[in-house]
Amino acid sequence: MARFTTRAILAATRTPAVRQASSATPIYQASAFATETAAELGEVLTGVTPGYAYSRIDNPTTAVLASAVAELEGAEAGLAFASGMAAIHAAILSVLRAGQTIVATTAVYGTTRDLLVRILGGLGIGTEFVDSTDLAAVDAALARTGAPALYVETISNPTIIVSDIAALAEVAHRRGAALLVDNTFASPYGCRPVERGADISIHSATKYLSGHADVLAGVVVGSRERIDAIRPILVDAGGALAPMAAYLVLRGLPTLSLRMERHSATALELATWLKGQPGIARVHYPGLPEDPGHEVAARQLDVFGGMFAFELAGGRDAGRAFLDAMTIPERTASLGATRTIVSHPPSTTHRQLDEAALRQSGIAPGLLRVSTGLEDVEDLRADFEQALGAAVGRAR
Ligand SMILES: Cc1ncc(COP(=O)(O)O)c(C=O)c1O
Repeated sequence: MARFTTRAILAATRTPAVRQASSATPIYQASAFATETAAELGEVLTGVTPGYAYSRIDNPTTAVLASAVAELEGAEAGLAFASGMAAIHAAILSVLRAGQTIVATTAVYGTTRDLLVRILGGLGIGTEFVDSTDLAAVDAALARTGAPALYVETISNPTIIVSDIAALAEVAHRRGAALLVDNTFASPYGCRPVERGADISIHSATKYLSGHADVLAGVVVGSRERIDAIRPILVDAGGALAPMAAYLVLRGLPTLSLRMERHSATALELATWLKGQPGIARVHYPGLPEDPGHEVAARQLDVFGGMFAFELAGGRDAGRAFLDAMTIPERTASLGATRTIVSHPPSTTHRQLDEAALRQSGIAPGLLRVSTGLEDVEDLRADFEQALGAAVGRAR
């Protein structure tokens, strides 16, 4: 008989044979999977035989998440990543080589801008920024640069600008470029970019997909061919999602529609109320009929979403004062959670941008970005009202 430690190792690593389906996707918390023979392992590793060998390459729990998001977005296939940025990085590298240029929207998440300019720029990949709502400018930039890809956000962070995906897909494809869309703000419930002609749709699953601010994850979906081109970057660069994290994102999906409806209804109510208040220079929300993105949003989005922004006339100081006076929302950089989050991008998420880059990204110094949570809207409105009073110096 084997000795104690050997017996402990063998006894503790048996995989149960379960014939019944579990009510939740099992967490395959394993770095590797064993085969019957060495030959079979070689076949699984090289993709000759379907199966699992090593969790950086593929894991059953993360695979369920990737295919679930692909199905929700009407795409053929998907891949899950350790974060939204890992997903964006892999998607972009799958369509670009050194010496080429990507055309990207100026209204882009600050870290994506950094990835493009600082990281990929240092590797000989150029970026030409353009206003994605100006189709003629996009077309001219694609023609001038011969870019193999166009990168936009369905709803931009933090300026809440809506990109017309169907129109941009047409422009991009006419110029032989692929359209990559960061669909994080809209979520698959609000928008399905691949159905509108995008080649690759990307999510920070850290946000609405998981929905509970307890996990970092990213997902990319597209045609099987596109996903096959992204897979080697996932495998070789190693931004694989951990199975426990995949499980947490899966846990959010069944309630995505319910959460998005509530996030959206609250955003519309707060945005509508805010635009009539003193001290407010501007409210950005595609659900408002006067918003420049409303017409496209009404066509493209099933819900207008839980993200809106507003500009305080008092600038940077008023923005900070508003944020500090809030009692219900958290002062944090993320979004898409059960709890409302208010951020002041010029001093948080976009702090890496200097004044000129801020201006180029359309971010006013008094801009506050709101991610509505699931709280009772009356409580949120009262909190916004008192914070506005504090920010504009009104005695209450
Ligand atoms: C629109 C958008 N895309 C991508 C990301 C990056 O996602 P992650 O933080 O999961 O890497 C974020 C993060 O805030 C985001 O807001």
